[in-house]
Amino acid sequence: MLDGKHIILGITGGIAAYKSAMLARLLVKAGAEVQVIMTPAAKEFIAPLTLSTLTGNPVISEFFTANTGEWHSHVDLGLWADAMVIAPATASSIGKMANGIADNMLITTYLSAKAPVFVAPAMDLDMMAHPSTARNLSYLRSYGNHIIEARSGELASHLVGKGRMEEPENIVAYLEVYFSRHNDLTGKHVMITAGPTYEKIDPVRFIGNYSSGKMGYALAEEAAKRGARVTLVSGPVSTSVSHPSISVVRVESAVQMLAAATKAFADADVAILAAAVADYAPAEPSEHKIKREGNEPPEIRLVKNPDIAATLGQLKKDGQHLVGFALETDNEMANAADKLKRKNLDMIVLNSLKDEGAGFGTDTNKITIIDRDGTAVSSSLKSKKEVATDIFDHIIAKF
Ligand code: PMT
Repeated sequence: MLDGKHIILGITGGIAAYKSAMLARLLVKAGAEVQVIMTPAAKEFIAPLTLSTLTGNPVISEFFTANTGEWHSHVDLGLWADAMVIAPATASSIGKMANGIADNMLITTYLSAKAPVFVAPAMDLDMMAHPSTARNLSYLRSYGNHIIEARSGELASHLVGKGRMEEPENIVAYLEVYFSRHNDLTGKHVMITAGPTYEKIDPVRFIGNYSSGKMGYALAEEAAKRGARVTLVSGPVSTSVSHPSISVVRVESAVQMLAAATKAFADADVAILAAAVADYAPAEPSEHKIKREGNEPPEIRLVKNPDIAATLGQLKKDGQHLVGFALETDNEMANAADKLKRKNLDMIVLNSLKDEGAGFGTDTNKITIIDRDGTAVSSSLKSKKEVATDIFDHIIAKF
């Protein structure tokens, strides 16, 4: 599973750093190419020479190589990696990661990483039990990072409690399980719609909605992380993408979104329709700004927009999987189930505006996934990144 994988091994300054040598050795043995990045404090615990000898790559620790002036690009490293493993992760580094304090090469690379990040904490039991550590670890979880829990046992202080870094062979096993489950969209084309549509009234006004695109963009990032080529058909939003495998097609109206989505759907394996498409558009948008002075308020006649989900549902071929969203305010389950059938979807993700923190604009969502056979799985309020992970886990398990 790890053969040929590019892995950044981040080592921070704790006594468990001596175990990182064994971890580096096991990763290399499993076929991975390993690039070690150490914090300055980590070098007090283990010599960089040990790690560069084991991995065959010079260890990076500073932003520049002192004698050559060569700059180490954290951005390039972040793009190169298939996974980033930070082991051991001290309380201090976990705090910096949680709060974006980018004062060393390891943290800047962490902030630039596009690949999944695995964090193996190691510290004394009191530090482990401190509420700030618990809060910082919960931040990392909400960013989609994987926490490889510390074990209980005898610690370097000779106290006994939770804080021992997980054993290197178990960290490797964790990565192997992750890659066997998650790197499962390699070679697939995933099409995602996101954001609102704007329907022109005149050159300065439109009918729109509150969608920020955050849900659709999180899905696009998740699909790309799992190895897919992603086409993201996006309505007008300020959210941006970072993964190089995502091509963004920008549209404004529902008619434009339909054209772009239909084109991308032709060779898509999976399509997820997270956009909030306006159901109606002005029948005759004015070419000139409608003047207020001397005019009665205009009466705007509306026409129905095309239903993109239903159109793709008609075009769907064997082997293509179509996933819709349902944004409801009442009769949620019945309305979502009806949309699933009517639009010929394979699965629908229900979110309700009745749930605080769910739906438009927020960084969180609370969903129920409903399958064609009526099975429904609900989850608690989570970050949109975590929701995107759950949706892809479900899609892959089903299809
Ligand atoms: O963008 P965010 O701020 O992160 O918010 C996320 C979200 C709330 C927009 C998202 O989670 C969501 O629920 N998206 C679907 C919103 C919606 O339009 O739901 P609907 O129940 O009206 O539509 C049902 C399905 O048909 C959706 O997949 C929708 O994309 C699709 N549809 C709707 C109308 C239309 N004319 N064409 C469509 O394809």
